[in-house]
Amino acid sequence: VEQNHKALYDLMEQVARYYQTQLRQHPSAARAVDYLKQRGLTGQIAKQFDLGFAAPGWDNLLQQFGSNETQRKLLLDAGMLVQNESGKIYDRFRDRIVFPIRDQRGRVIAFGGRVLGDDKPKYLNSPETAIFHKGRELYGLYQARKANRKLERILVVEGYMDVIALAQHDISYATATLGTATSKTHLERIFRLCPEVVFCFDGDQAGRKAAFRALEAALPALEDGRQARFLFLPEGEDPDDAVRAGGRDGFELMLQQAKALENFLFETLSEGLDSNSLDGRARLSKLALPYIRQMPEGVYQQLMFQELARRTGLELSSLMQLEAPAAPKT
Ligand code: UTP
Ligand code: MN
Ligand code: MN
Ligand code: MN
Ligand code: MN
Repeated sequence: VEQNHKALYDLMEQVARYYQTQLRQHPSAARAVDYLKQRGLTGQIAKQFDLGFAAPGWDNLLQQFGSNETQRKLLLDAGMLVQNESGKIYDRFRDRIVFPIRDQRGRVIAFGGRVLGDDKPKYLNSPETAIFHKGRELYGLYQARKANRKLERILVVEGYMDVIALAQHDISYATATLGTATSKTHLERIFRLCPEVVFCFDGDQAGRKAAFRALEAALPALEDGRQARFLFLPEGEDPDDAVRAGGRDGFELMLQQAKALENFLFETLSEGLDSNSLDGRARLSKLALPYIRQMPEGVYQQLMFQELARRTGLELSSLMQLEAPAAPKT
């Protein structure tokens, strides 16, 4: 049963406001403001995403909220305060830009925090808590819904800064999975709001791997009328880099050319196969069928079977009679 976490939500909102105030007022916040500016962000966009600053020091949050025992317990539960083995309590986020993570209804459920320089770890995130379930939330979805009367599509990117840099360039429909794999829950949530999702991960090996896993998560959600596409960025670029380089128009032009899911699927499965040889075509059929069979029944799925038949030169009827190999794990 979902508990009533009202006190916790209220406190998390207060914490977000506290960090926001620190970004404006703390004596050492100038570094943080400069950092955001240097990344091309204006005060307006910082405000839209409620960006804040966790000042240097071990106990700023603890001092601010922790003298009240109820609040201290709530902040420990929320992962904002940490208790070490000897019982000492300290702030999780120190000397970092902080990003409040809101759920779909706008409640602050967690935070991310970025170092101002090149220290490691680059990002810290709240742990899983009673109100934060990583595999379900999409960073920026609340802001995207607020900015758009009706969403035509949702963009899925990797990071906080990708979402915010895109919004800075008036592309206000990006959300981020924040270092977790795209899940079926993510996809269901997206398709309840709009008919199209475009995945745009970083232009590196990890990003391409994440894209194929997103494809696997998307297949079961692809009812007729729904579409998933993939925008692959140049090696070494992420959406933040890309939109800063090409601006809104440049980015949306690339977006128009994003690869349809079917092309990504068939191209990936054909890698290393000789599509001219009978053996290669036989293997492609065996590889592709389990994926297509995960789609909901419908016209889209039928067209996928037909496309596979075309690519392999098999009759549709013989293709459909191929026995089902073990389904791939998703
Ligand atoms: P990236 O490493 O691509 O970060 O991780 P980025 O967003 O491009 O970082 P900038 O541009 O240098 O600021 C993508 C996302 O993965 C999660 C964060 O959510 C990050 O936004 N991540 C990354 C972590 O949780 N911890 C890390 O140490 C790194
Ligand atoms: Mn819960
Ligand atoms: Mn990356
Ligand atoms: Mn990145
Ligand atoms: Mn980046």
